[in-house]
Amino acid sequence: MFLWGTATASYQIEGAVHEGGRGPSIWDTFSHEPGRVRDGHTGDVACDHYHRWPEDVALISGAGLNAYRFSVAWPRVQPSGRGPANQAGLDFYDRLVDALCDIGVVPVPTLFHWDLPQALEDEGGWMNRDTAAYFADYAALVAERLADRVGTWITLNEPFVHMTFGYGLGVHAPGRTLFLDALPVAHHQLLGHGLAVRALRAAGARTVLITNNCTPVWPASDSPEDLAAAAAYDALHNRLFNDPVLLGTYPDMSAYGLEDWGFVRDGDLETIAQPLDGLGVNYYNPTRIAGPGAGGLPFHDAGVTGYPTTAFGWPVVPDGLRELLESLKATYGTALPPVYVTENGCSYDGIDDQERITYLNGHIEAMRRARGVDVRGYFVWSLLDNFEWAEGYHQRFGLVHVDFETQERTPKASYHWLKGMLGQLS
Ligand code: FCB
Repeated sequence: MFLWGTATASYQIEGAVHEGGRGPSIWDTFSHEPGRVRDGHTGDVACDHYHRWPEDVALISGAGLNAYRFSVAWPRVQPSGRGPANQAGLDFYDRLVDALCDIGVVPVPTLFHWDLPQALEDEGGWMNRDTAAYFADYAALVAERLADRVGTWITLNEPFVHMTFGYGLGVHAPGRTLFLDALPVAHHQLLGHGLAVRALRAAGARTVLITNNCTPVWPASDSPEDLAAAAAYDALHNRLFNDPVLLGTYPDMSAYGLEDWGFVRDGDLETIAQPLDGLGVNYYNPTRIAGPGAGGLPFHDAGVTGYPTTAFGWPVVPDGLRELLESLKATYGTALPPVYVTENGCSYDGIDDQERITYLNGHIEAMRRARGVDVRGYFVWSLLDNFEWAEGYHQRFGLVHVDFETQERTPKASYHWLKGMLGQLS
């Protein structure tokens, strides 16, 4: 069955940050620091999904979707990031899973969508190798509770974005500015992924994926400098995260002059390259790259021009999704497992969101045009308008409008369009 779903993430929708024994996450800390998030917004209340989840589940099935990708908040399950499970935290997801199964919606939990327990960050976060092992322990606790009903699991969401924005540039939690020295964050997340895959399988998980943020990289020109810059960027954004899990190797990163890979120990790549049942791909837009960049970087972002843009300013390039899917097949061949588009969507204001209909329709058509790729699912980001990280509540990605004063949910035109489209398929 092709999965037609929608995706959310715990910190972006749940709120109730002090309830059910939840511990603090790095996003609680970060969002409460002045100047970190636009207008000082926090996820303290968000969409109040922790209390309103039955209404949200009804919205999912009401759209005719058959799958729901949500994330489990690690600090609800282990308030300090390790030790025994907090049963109240697991109970929340247990009820959610039951409700989804009851109405025939496939639950697809993601175990890490960036809300690391603060206690682990205090010990170095993902710069600390131990975090990988703690992540696998946490995965085991969640799977032991849910794997009797949950078959499909995602370990990490977008380790590239978490490394780059969170640890490299400091624009996301935990707000560290390590620049290229953040590289161990990639490796430790990937190691955590590999260890978690083993733990999930031991608990009975059938279909295990990782979700990577992928972008087609367009060289700004045919000059050798721009071609080399594009290859370097592709290595950092795409291949650093896809190659180890699919091929068991790291790509050539020599353009970055990173000499010390001492954090990669014997056996790590074998652990990371656990056989996967699918690759989750989040696609938003292509990237146009020229060389070189500032501060010793081998590239700079030359900007994609000549396309419409979303309210976020992101270029709308539907065919980029076809290009991406076909390039994954060209790069990985038989090593590419089935692909799930685990996020695709756009930020626009308003309830009569005709632009979102155009966006989604264009991307779904582009996905269907992709040749030679076994695509098994498509998830719209997002069900609800929500806490969009450093942008706070300013970017609205939902199929459903949320009034953050009253928490009233109003399905947008795109919700009704999606329902109609899915109705014609069945
Ligand atoms: C992705 C994130 C998701 C959301 C969308 C817009 O990078 O995974 O949480 O913020 O972007």
